[in-house]
Amino acid sequence: MNLKQQAASHAITYVKSGMVMGLGSGSTTKYFIEILAEKLKSGELHDIAGVPTSEGVAQLARVQGIPLVSLAELSPGDAIPALDLAVDGADEIDPNLNLVKGLGRALLREKIVESHANYFIVIADESKLVTRLGQGPLPIEIVPYEAEVHIRWLNSLGCRAELWLEEGGEPIITDNANYLVRCWHAHGIPDPYQLARDLADRPGVVEHGLFLDMTDLAIVAGLEGVQLKERK
Ligand code: A5P
Repeated sequence: MNLKQQAASHAITYVKSGMVMGLGSGSTTKYFIEILAEKLKSGELHDIAGVPTSEGVAQLARVQGIPLVSLAELSPGDAIPALDLAVDGADEIDPNLNLVKGLGRALLREKIVESHANYFIVIADESKLVTRLGQGPLPIEIVPYEAEVHIRWLNSLGCRAELWLEEGGEPIITDNANYLVRCWHAHGIPDPYQLARDLADRPGVVEHGLFLDMTDLAIVAGLEGVQLKERK
């Protein structure tokens, strides 16, 4: 098993029959979904329903035979429908279990789904551990309308912001019909909370890849074994 598979295998021990769970996006979560599907097929787990965080994951779950449900269908009438568990990968994990996510292009639906989880587990290999967020680009979802102006504003925050393009040169279009921008910080993100507030206040910014104070447990696989890091 590679390191991502090891983290995914450990996460499956937190899944109990009858749970409704958020299904994350990305290569690590793909292993988790495949293991989950095997356990459903063998009967070791039953009565699981998943809320997918991207069209890609919805497709994968359907192929694997995992029943899907939307948040709205989950508990009609509840103002805040609750998921028992959500499991997802991350691009960066800092010592407080704050995350950068979204380099798999799915940050908006990931944040919506995971904000409804009673317990949120992040699975990753040890290459994702950082001492400060912002070692790589921070993805930000923006509306296409006046995109150039939003990108100029993002550049004024002290990062280098660029529209994220497909290999053919056209803008990436998310599952929500928006654009994505990647922002590089030369020395990491000095204050992720302030940046998150600034981004939340900006019309045209739909969502960003800072997942702050959301993780309950990080399962990180490394050459020395699997580490469990719980939120303090
Ligand atoms: C998807 O948009 C991302 O948030 C992924 O969860 C993240 O990029 C981790 O991906 P991998 O598991 O492929 O490393």
